[in-house]
Amino acid sequence: MMTLKEKIEQLKRERHAVILAHYYTEGDVQDVADFVGDSLALSQKAATTDAEVILFAGVHFMGETAKILSPDKTVLMPDMSAGCSLADSCRADEFAAFIAAHPGHTVISYVNTTAEVKALTDIVCTSSNAVQIVQSLPEDEPIIFGPDRNLGNYIKNITGRQNMLIWDGACHVHEEFSLEKILELKQAHPTAKVLTHPECKRPIVLISDYVGSTAELLKFATDDTTTDTYIVVTEPGVLHQMKKSAPAKTFIPAPPIDSTCGCNNCSYMKLVTLQKMADALERLEPQIVIPEDTRVRAEKSIRRMLDISKKLGLIK
Ligand code: 13P
Ligand code: SF4
Repeated sequence: MMTLKEKIEQLKRERHAVILAHYYTEGDVQDVADFVGDSLALSQKAATTDAEVILFAGVHFMGETAKILSPDKTVLMPDMSAGCSLADSCRADEFAAFIAAHPGHTVISYVNTTAEVKALTDIVCTSSNAVQIVQSLPEDEPIIFGPDRNLGNYIKNITGRQNMLIWDGACHVHEEFSLEKILELKQAHPTAKVLTHPECKRPIVLISDYVGSTAELLKFATDDTTTDTYIVVTEPGVLHQMKKSAPAKTFIPAPPIDSTCGCNNCSYMKLVTLQKMADALERLEPQIVIPEDTRVRAEKSIRRMLDISKKLGLIK
């Protein structure tokens, strides 16, 4: 009898597949992946892999981004219903109307958007390059930023850009963290550093020791020598890699406002299971399909992000 993990390994070889996983998936899912990363690193991997099949252990917009960048490859999702509340908070028709109402703006969209929204966008960004992408534009350039209001305000505060319109969207996971409970944890662990994702609300960002994308939080937690305890204010899936890369340190997941709701977990990411991954590789279904005209327009905005990130040395 083969274990699920062995079955996935075998199917992966037979299908010439690569498995890409986001840090928010379950630990066992991350452990069978060929590459685990944040949104930026995953999109770059998807653009450069020579595998015939990409199995994306993540949410729908991530699979779409892979397909946009590698249209000739088969992109499989373990569960097609793994969506994203942030992507859902920005419908393409409404975003198009917002852009039309504010002509002359450069449109920057967070990668957590549908292919249709990316097709309306000039430059895509992720949480690890958003500040630098905005700073790469002239100081007085009018900008529309969507869809995350917290990331948008974080960038606006750091860059001091006045000419920036921000779409009013948010991620249900990152909006749920409790400032009060984080402050209580800080009191109980006075040497702990607070590591926060920029999708969190401003009061939490303000009391944080470090703010960054999942990959940046992981790097900080691994490299930092000033303490050994961290309160992690993002989806707790990232703790899996933190514990692996710094086993002697203590990582405390930040609690949500309602401690009984489990809403600091991204329920969409947790839809990805080993069984669904094995099934997808076996059936070569479900596959991401994007209309070609949408894909071509969306690709331009993602390629612009990758080009700027390369130029700035953020990726190789
Ligand atoms: P990263 O860019 O850090 O991977 O974040 C993705 C995400 O979905 C955050 O909620
Ligand atoms: Fe979307 Fe939030 Fe889940 Fe990230 S954590 S995938 S932004 S719902």
